[in-house]
Order: sequence, then structure tokens, then C-alpha cells
Amino acid sequence: MWIYEKKLQYPVRVSQCNPRLAKFLIEQYGGADGELAAALRYLNQRYTLPDKVKALLTDIGTEEFAHLEMIATMVYKLTKDATPEQLKEAGLGAHFADHDKALFYHNAAGVPFTATYIQAKGDPIADLYEDIAAEEKARATYQWLIDMSDDPDINDALKFLREREVVHAQRFREAVEILKEYQGQKKYF
Ligand SMILES: [Fe+2]
Repeated sequence: MWIYEKKLQYPVRVSQCNPRLAKFLIEQYGGADGELAAALRYLNQRYTLPDKVKALLTDIGTEEFAHLEMIATMVYKLTKDATPEQLKEAGLGAHFADHDKALFYHNAAGVPFTATYIQAKGDPIADLYEDIAAEEKARATYQWLIDMSDDPDINDALKFLREREVVHAQRFREAVEILKEYQGQKKYF
């Protein structure tokens, strides 16, 4: 169960209408290494992870939904005042034809989200290594987005999100060490 707080995890400001930047940011909305994939991956994997690390997946999976909300806000604010012509020029013509200005879970290239982006192996170490890789890939994507953006307000929020991916990766690495230590202990029955 969750309690919804009516505020973003970190404020999202936008300097100006910029559908071209929005098209790139959609990668973190419905892309393979995006926030939806992260949230669904962790909140699904947690059931078969040992109790020692289960809560971590709940914490991080929940936070990823807060990040998804931030990305949605960015995309919405960057496109809400755009004309159809501007959307077309930004490469969002196909999106506009199908969705108008509604958001949709696809990647920057327009490929719809698919559950095949994520895994659940049932092996805690395998799943945690996938989670570490997911965080590193999300961090890299945020870096590429920051490199392409010239909007200082958007970059401020993107830098916050990039740092959270670094923290998540560290926490998953700690979880691997906790589990390895636990599995290495002799058990007496
Ligand atoms: Fe993350």
C-alpha cells in the first residue's frame, strides 16, 4: 500500500517550450532503461528475494515511480504549448498523430514499452546484478540527456535523477555483499 503525496520528489521547472528535448526525455519514460522499467522490475522481483534485502527493492521501486512522475512532468511542460508544426519539426509528428499531447510509454525512437525490457530470474544474485546494471544504464542515459540539453532548469532536475541512480546502484551492490555473506555462512540445523 502506498500513501500519495501531492508533490514531486524534486521540483521540475522548465525554461521554455522545447518539444525536441521532450522527445529525448521520453527515453526515460518508456524506454528499456527508463523509470517505468525500473519501478516494475524491482516491485516484481522483490517477492522472491530473501527478507534481508526485500525492503530495499520496495523502497527503490517506489522511488522509481516518483522519478517517472518527474519525467512525465518534464515532457508535459516541454510540449504543452507547442504547435503541431513544432511537434512535427521535433520528430514528434507520429506521436501527435496517435496521442495528441498525451503521454505514452514508448522510447525516444517511438518503440512502445514492453515487459521484455525487464527480467525476474528468481535467483537473488542474478536479479540484483541485473538491478545494478539497470541503475548504471539509467545513470548513463541521464548523462547523455544532460549533455544534449541546454535548459538549465531541466538539467537541475536531471542531475538530481542521475545522482539517485548512483545511490541506487550503490545500495544494490551492498545488497549483493549482504547476500553473499549470508549465503557463505555455515548453517546448523
Ligand atoms: Fe534508480
